[in-house]
Amino acid sequence: MRLTPILTTLAGLATAAEKPYSTWLTDSIISYNIVPKTRWYTEATFYYAVEAVHNRTSSPTYLSYLTSQLDPLLHPGNGSFVSWDYADHQLDNLRIGSPLLHLHTRFPSLPRRYRRALDFLHDRLLRHQKRTPSGGFWHKDPKYPHQMWLDGLFMAGPFSAAYAALFDPTNTTLWDNILLQFRLVEDHCRNRTGANNLLKHGYDESRRAVWADPVTGASPLVWIRAQGWYFMALVDVLEWFPPWHAGHGMLTRWFGELAAAVRREQDRESGGWWLVMDEEYKGREGNYIESSGTAMYTYGMLKGIRKGLLAEGEYLPVAARAYRMMTERFVARNGTGGGINWEGTVRVGSLDGKGDYEYYIGINKVENDLKGVGPFILASVEWERHLEERGL
Ligand SMILES: *[C@@H]1O[C@H](CO)[C@@H](O)[C@H](O)[C@H]1NC(C)=O
Ligand SMILES: *[C@@H]1O[C@H](CO)[C@@H](O)[C@H](O)[C@H]1NC(C)=O
Ligand SMILES: *[C@@H]1O[C@H](CO)[C@@H](O)[C@H](O)[C@H]1NC(C)=O
Ligand SMILES: *[C@@H]1O[C@H](CO)[C@@H](O)[C@H](O)[C@H]1NC(C)=O
Ligand SMILES: *[C@@H]1O[C@H](CO)[C@@H](O)[C@H](O)[C@H]1NC(C)=O
Repeated sequence: MRLTPILTTLAGLATAAEKPYSTWLTDSIISYNIVPKTRWYTEATFYYAVEAVHNRTSSPTYLSYLTSQLDPLLHPGNGSFVSWDYADHQLDNLRIGSPLLHLHTRFPSLPRRYRRALDFLHDRLLRHQKRTPSGGFWHKDPKYPHQMWLDGLFMAGPFSAAYAALFDPTNTTLWDNILLQFRLVEDHCRNRTGANNLLKHGYDESRRAVWADPVTGASPLVWIRAQGWYFMALVDVLEWFPPWHAGHGMLTRWFGELAAAVRREQDRESGGWWLVMDEEYKGREGNYIESSGTAMYTYGMLKGIRKGLLAEGEYLPVAARAYRMMTERFVARNGTGGGINWEGTVRVGSLDGKGDYEYYIGINKVENDLKGVGPFILASVEWERHLEERGL
């Protein structure tokens, strides 16, 4: 009866919260009026979480919130973006594609409004984003030439996979291209002979960046959130990737390998994960258990279990532990208004400088940062589904 302790944990957690955290935090953030109407990936990550809450609750409130935030970005008659900087090529601009795709499928009576925006974003990726000699999309042009960052796989991956699945599902070229992006970072950022099998933040195919490893091109460290984006990208892309394509098996294997590696790295004391995850920095002064990445790993594991990609007996205890810790440590009451805050999310992490330990730990943490709020809501939706399926 190996499942008994898990079920006990689940039952304990089911009664601990007054209301589901998924809607509680979503409603809180909406009520604080802190989400600007932009198409930036930070907001887009929150919209994706609202989409998940809308899926789960079917409440029209969440759908009308999404349209009120996203419609002002587009010309109502034809769906082209009201503003776009054509000199700015970065994968971060494409993350908005996922929530727009949700609106497209939810408003079949507006066939052109969102479709043009989706076609536009897809075209920006395929025809205008520069590539490395191996075919990898630059993270940002002109700022980061020949660099792929793990973050970018989440910014463009699930959107381009969903786009292909819905509009051009038999186009092998599209699927090959999606797979290639993952294969390149697997080849350059993951050290399979190393001790932990984790992935470094990014790599420079030209090896010119100050941080680039002379052999692999990889950056020096494993940053929790970059790898968290990547973990989410794998599980979300697998939702769309066709089983008839050989890439499906590879993506499944990479996801499973990363899940196993992340599981081994869970901090025994807290149940979360370190900001800088490389072995020699765990517990080092300045390093800390970071909330956005912890939420991303929890979401990925719970969704992986639901999709049959991960063994429940191995991963549910890990995710349950992390989830409980997050509700205790990172969720806080916001004054007396009944709302809650999300704490402990690091503001940014980039490969703009040296990408060393001092850089990563020197960035401040921000309250209610949507890059942490979104993944925690996504994890909560998965968690609440698990509880419901068990009748808890
Ligand atoms: C919402 O539901 C649709 C339809 O089942 C699904 O394709 C999409 O991935 C879901 N979105 C999220 C964020 O879970
Ligand atoms: C869409 O409509 C706006 C406003 O009427 C117009 O300025 C824009 O050029 C149109 N875009 C396209 C691609 O037709
Ligand atoms: C697949 O998609 C690409 C990019 O949109 C397009 O250029 C190509 O013609 C498509 N191939 C087929 C066989 O439809
Ligand atoms: C992989 O990690 C091992 C052990 O830490 C190290 O000795 C080796 O140099 C690394 N290989 C690459 C290609 O970075
Ligand atoms: C409630 O959250 C908002 C948005 O983050 C913040 O501005 C405000 O300071 C919070 N209030 C308290 C008492 O934490």
